[in-house]
Amino acid sequence: MVASEATPFAKTGGLADVLGALPAALVEQGEEVAVVLPYYRSVKVPDARLVLEGQPLWIGPGRYTCSIFEVVRRGVRYFLVACDEFFGRPGIYGDAGGEYWDNDTRYAGLCHAALAVARHLFRPHIFHCHDWQTGLLPVYLRQFFSSDPTFFGIRTVFTIHNLGYQGRYPKKNLYWLGLPEWLFRSDLLEYYGEINLLKAGLVYSDALTTVSPTYAAEIQTPDQGFGLDGLLRARAGALTGILNGVDYSVWNPETDTAIAANYSATDLSGKQACKLDLLQHAGLPTERTEVPVIGIVSRLASQKGFDLLAQVAYDLVNWDIRMVILGSGESQYESLFRSLAEARPDKFSVRIAYDDKLAHRIEAGSDIFLMPSRYEPCGLNQMYSLRYGTVPIVHATGGLDDTIEAGTGFKFRPYTADAMLGALREALTRYWVDRERWNGMIREGMSRDFSWAASASPYIDLYRSLRS
Ligand code: ADP
Ligand code: GLC
Repeated sequence: MVASEATPFAKTGGLADVLGALPAALVEQGEEVAVVLPYYRSVKVPDARLVLEGQPLWIGPGRYTCSIFEVVRRGVRYFLVACDEFFGRPGIYGDAGGEYWDNDTRYAGLCHAALAVARHLFRPHIFHCHDWQTGLLPVYLRQFFSSDPTFFGIRTVFTIHNLGYQGRYPKKNLYWLGLPEWLFRSDLLEYYGEINLLKAGLVYSDALTTVSPTYAAEIQTPDQGFGLDGLLRARAGALTGILNGVDYSVWNPETDTAIAANYSATDLSGKQACKLDLLQHAGLPTERTEVPVIGIVSRLASQKGFDLLAQVAYDLVNWDIRMVILGSGESQYESLFRSLAEARPDKFSVRIAYDDKLAHRIEAGSDIFLMPSRYEPCGLNQMYSLRYGTVPIVHATGGLDDTIEAGTGFKFRPYTADAMLGALREALTRYWVDRERWNGMIREGMSRDFSWAASASPYIDLYRSLRS
């Protein structure tokens, strides 16, 4: 597998969770898996061993050198690509000034390094690429190495984690990426006058997957296809939706060391302790602990549906609720949440940050978890919430629709502030007036099993089908 992030090395979102867990689940089912990742400056792996030094990477007119370090985690061989020009920077994708301007070349470097890993260190049967950062790998493989015996017979799988991020660059960058101009065709890499690296992956890979069955259908519609729905319809025969799983060794209230008390479906008393701990930590009042706490942990991006919350924020300030919000991202949403916390510090607590430990405490200490995403390829937090006995309220889209049922959470559609408010009201009413049914929902949600073992099997079936 090749990707731009994986836990525990580097994480900005769910992609990292997937790359931290799916490979191990495949290994448990007897597969051999290696993952190629950038060795970002922020990645600290003292036990990584140098396994390949001074490997040249020739990308168009550029001459770079990388070294490969290896570390094994849960039976998975992680190959970390060290290359100062590309990854020796403070950020992953960018810094306070925005995205790094040369991300296309940086990740082209990752693709070339992955090909070097395949040549020298781990010969795969399948290259499994994730998201736009790895979209050029199947292109390089086919353009430059189709007659190279090292790569003969290798097949490619490309997983779309989010169609909204495509890696679009000016046409002139073809030269810098070492690609011939004739690839700038609307049936190849061209997209509305630019090159599109996600599209490259979609055109050149043998099989395509995305992270839930509903999202696999949605991205074939003009509404959710981000301009690539025509291509995805044309490739529908090669596209499957495989639901992500949960790494229950990390997200499990029975064993979680980040939360105030452990608990299980049979004994929920620890959850009360977690709620109190969260209220204290968030600086919210600790009297009347029965008041429901609504949690949010999210990238603050327009995908995540906070425009709906903005429309009703000044209704919510009068409700008898408490909200704990953790996230960072677009400034409009950061200001929205900050202004709510300023207006009602007794009801809203906001932390603009990336804080893994707090994410666990919010999952454990909240009564309700809100995910009003406009679209959501899979979404992981709603599944974490189920396991933590925190009832999710979600917009019925993508993986949210596939994982939440009437017995375990509340779904709304259409995507309007009114529909979201309706779901919130219904949830709060049930919470206050029918606690028995509410507790039944909690237990039902906690019993759902979204472990990776179930999701790894369809990937193995897919790999096998490509080999036969
Ligand atoms: P996406 O990948 O679109 O951001 P997912 O629901 O698939 O959405 O995954 C998000 C992951 O990132 C979860 O593990 C979630 O806990 C984590 N996360 C998101 N924002 C933060 C934050 N501010 N602090 C800590 N963890 C976060
Ligand atoms: C993306 C999606 C999210 C999904 C994650 C992992 O970031 O936005 O829905 O869960 O990838 O596949």
